Amino acid sequence: MRITIAGTGYVGLVTGVALAEIGHEVICYDIDDEKVNRLKEGISPIYEPGIDQLLVKNQLNNRLSFSSDCSEVYSTPDIIMIAVGTPEKEDGSANLSYVYQVAKDISKYLNTQQAIVVTKSTVPVGTNRKVKQWIEEEIDFHSKIHIVSNPEFLREGSALYDTFHGDRIVIGSEDEEAATKMEELYSPLNIPIIHTDIESAEMIKYASNAFLATKISFINEIANICEKVGANIEDVSKGIGMDQRIGSKFLQAGIGYGGSCFPKDTKALVQLAGDVKHRFHLLEAVINVNNNQPLLLLKKARNYVGSFKDVKVAVLGLAFKPNTDDIRESAALVVLKHLLNEGAQVNVYDPIAIANARKVLGNTVTYYETIEAAIKDTEIVFIVTEWKQVKEFPLRNYLDLMKTPIVIDGRNCYEVKEAAALNMTYSSIGRESVTAAKIEIK
Ligand SMILES: NC(=O)c1ccc[n+]([C@@H]2O[C@H](COP(=O)([O-])OP(=O)(O)OC[C@H]3O[C@@H](n4cnc5c(N)ncnc54)[C@H](O)[C@@H]3O)[C@@H](O)[C@H]2O)c1
Repeated sequence: MRITIAGTGYVGLVTGVALAEIGHEVICYDIDDEKVNRLKEGISPIYEPGIDQLLVKNQLNNRLSFSSDCSEVYSTPDIIMIAVGTPEKEDGSANLSYVYQVAKDISKYLNTQQAIVVTKSTVPVGTNRKVKQWIEEEIDFHSKIHIVSNPEFLREGSALYDTFHGDRIVIGSEDEEAATKMEELYSPLNIPIIHTDIESAEMIKYASNAFLATKISFINEIANICEKVGANIEDVSKGIGMDQRIGSKFLQAGIGYGGSCFPKDTKALVQLAGDVKHRFHLLEAVINVNNNQPLLLLKKARNYVGSFKDVKVAVLGLAFKPNTDDIRESAALVVLKHLLNEGAQVNVYDPIAIANARKVLGNTVTYYETIEAAIKDTEIVFIVTEWKQVKEFPLRNYLDLMKTPIVIDGRNCYEVKEAAALNMTYSSIGRESVTAAKIEIK
């Protein structure tokens, strides 16, 4: 099939590459000329394991191409997929202006009697119908638009794997022919398909993210209580997760969820519920717990140093999670904002996300490409992203390299007993803290 994808971000590009790989003819369109030019040269603008190789392979096969000219991409494809951003507006609701622009471009350039327009972007219930309306109200000849809600569930850092091995594909449509065509599109993947009406498909995406966010905030709250009652969250998570009704995934206590999806999607769902006069108390609490979690880490650190003024600090990890260069809504940004406001001198380390971080943080921090260099002579270290490089970095090295070895671990990368044996100060999430004999608590 001939597919046009609008947006070459994490979702659009990965989907485009994967659909080309399974034999479709894909053209990806983006308004960002620079991105498109890099893609034309076979360079991925995002870090995602495995993407570079499949990108080039499918370009060479002539199954994958890129364009920044919308007059050429929307005229006669079999399927158009919308994968543009739907960021958060100030009131928490989803900003649909990029989706709207795609609809308007489609209406301007579409040149077929029938078109299937698929929304992969995460959009509030009711948006797909608006997309149809936006296209139809401006199109100047008779064309039948079939809309399909096909929400995306990939995770950054394993996006290609997830696309090829997803748990399910959701197809929300009210037209049987369009739904069948979507099934054909994905059939080489052999992933279970669930057919629903359009509104249910839209809701499945928000409900999934809200549920996962709830699991994270739940375990973080349990962790915070564990610290006070002397329980160990690692054992508690294991004990809970072995119950198959609960499952062990998303039960790792930490500094909270971030990224471009959970924070905005939870807020958008609260907003969506509010629009129909339903106060979503549970999800509001989930969001509040998450907003508070990075602040607890800072509070722990203040127990040791009093104030951050002129304190030399290292923050390990800037990406919102390992294996991605995405720093959107990363907990690191929250920690950094407070540290900088309070006058700390901050070194940062991240193996992949420094280029993106520079765009936001400029020269307010000092960037390092090795953990050794970042922590050297510092007084306190915050572990924010559980990169493999961090988890494998020997705890002993903090003792050797830091001025005062105080490690505040927001991802439970080390064993408490190892820190105790080394006589260093180590505080993590939901576990006992240990204090080096020589550290004076203010
Ligand atoms: N990133 C994820 O892990 C993920 C997972 C599932 C769902 N989603 C959802 O998918 C959507 C896209 O997310 P993303 O992370 O890929 O976004 P992104 O910000 O990485 O990419 C969006 C791209 O769309 C382009 N764009 C904007 N307006 C355009 C237009 N009119 N025509 C063509 N291109 C345009 C931008 O230039 C950008 O390259 C969002 O709704 C998001 O919530 C994201």
